[in-house]
Amino acid sequence: MKQHTIVVIPGDGIGREITAAAVRVLDAVAAKLGLQLNYQWRDAGGAAIDAVGEPLPTETVAAAMAADAVLLGAVGGPKWDNVEANLRPEQAILGLRKALKLYANLRPIRVPAALADASPLKRQAIDGLDLLIVRELVGGIYFGPKQEATLVDGVLQASDLEIYQEPEVARIVKLACEAAQLRRQSVTSVDKANVLASSRLWRKTAEKVSAAYPDVALSHLYVDNCAMQLILKPRQFDVIVTSNLFGDILSDEAAVLTGSIGMLPSASIGEGTSLYEPIHGSAPDIAGQGIANPLGTILSAALLLRYSLDCAAGAELIEAAVDKTLAQGYRTADLCQPGTTKVSTEEMTSRVLENLA
Ligand code: IPM
Ligand code: MG
Repeated sequence: MKQHTIVVIPGDGIGREITAAAVRVLDAVAAKLGLQLNYQWRDAGGAAIDAVGEPLPTETVAAAMAADAVLLGAVGGPKWDNVEANLRPEQAILGLRKALKLYANLRPIRVPAALADASPLKRQAIDGLDLLIVRELVGGIYFGPKQEATLVDGVLQASDLEIYQEPEVARIVKLACEAAQLRRQSVTSVDKANVLASSRLWRKTAEKVSAAYPDVALSHLYVDNCAMQLILKPRQFDVIVTSNLFGDILSDEAAVLTGSIGMLPSASIGEGTSLYEPIHGSAPDIAGQGIANPLGTILSAALLLRYSLDCAAGAELIEAAVDKTLAQGYRTADLCQPGTTKVSTEEMTSRVLENLA
């Protein structure tokens, strides 16, 4: 039996509940398909700050590097809002991305038929929506030189620098073009080239890289226009490729087209061990109540099977079970509407397991 090691980092807030749910589902798939999954549970984020005084213990990084895949819940919460900037829980996820050189974050956005009426957009605008956001993840303003607030001529000033090098842009656009080849052969590169020098380099590089993919149609959109197009005509998009900051913002916007950000999985890939996490945060307001939507994490586990364990069959099992559970009308609180059955995190997970069987 093939053995795989998965580092599970529950993190903070609802992170514990949702990773526990995803592990139950992974175990069921493993039993069905004869995989042997070994889990190593590790702390990061606020939990690690409380346990060992830093958000990303080196031991967590080492375990992640040595593993076949990492499954992460979420980090952060009001309890740690006032800690020093470089000790914030978010440093855990940023540090992991950097240490594992996970330069691409894939955020597939699909609206299951059963959820078409849960979207804030009209059903006819989102029926069949299927787009992929490819977000650059280890560069740009997130990682550029920063200056925390300092007095300059008697006035507090702070700054962050958006900086991109050509090879960083080239590798992410290449990845987006390759993803598009397996989809509908269209890539929209999103920038702010009318204002930002870094965006002008981005656009030029995207043009250059795409020349090697004559079967893929490349177009460009300014980020403000893209934000508008996403709610106006989201189905025009196949693959969107963009910078770290723009991708962060646009993927939250695109996520809610599915009715709830709680549905969205993501895969972060690059040179080291890939990392899988739902795109929502730690939702401290509902943590510990057992009502969080586990589906974003369960679908992240599906991506983990597909991309890191080379087990497409397992991924498809999970995705089909999730679709079936939604079609049966089960909904966690974030998605509950008249005519559906409201279930807890635990019950939603049990329904998915039944549908897997
Ligand atoms: C995300 C999150 C993170 C980000 C935070 C938690 C640092 O919003 O994964 O989208 O900004 O990248
Ligand atoms: Mg975000």
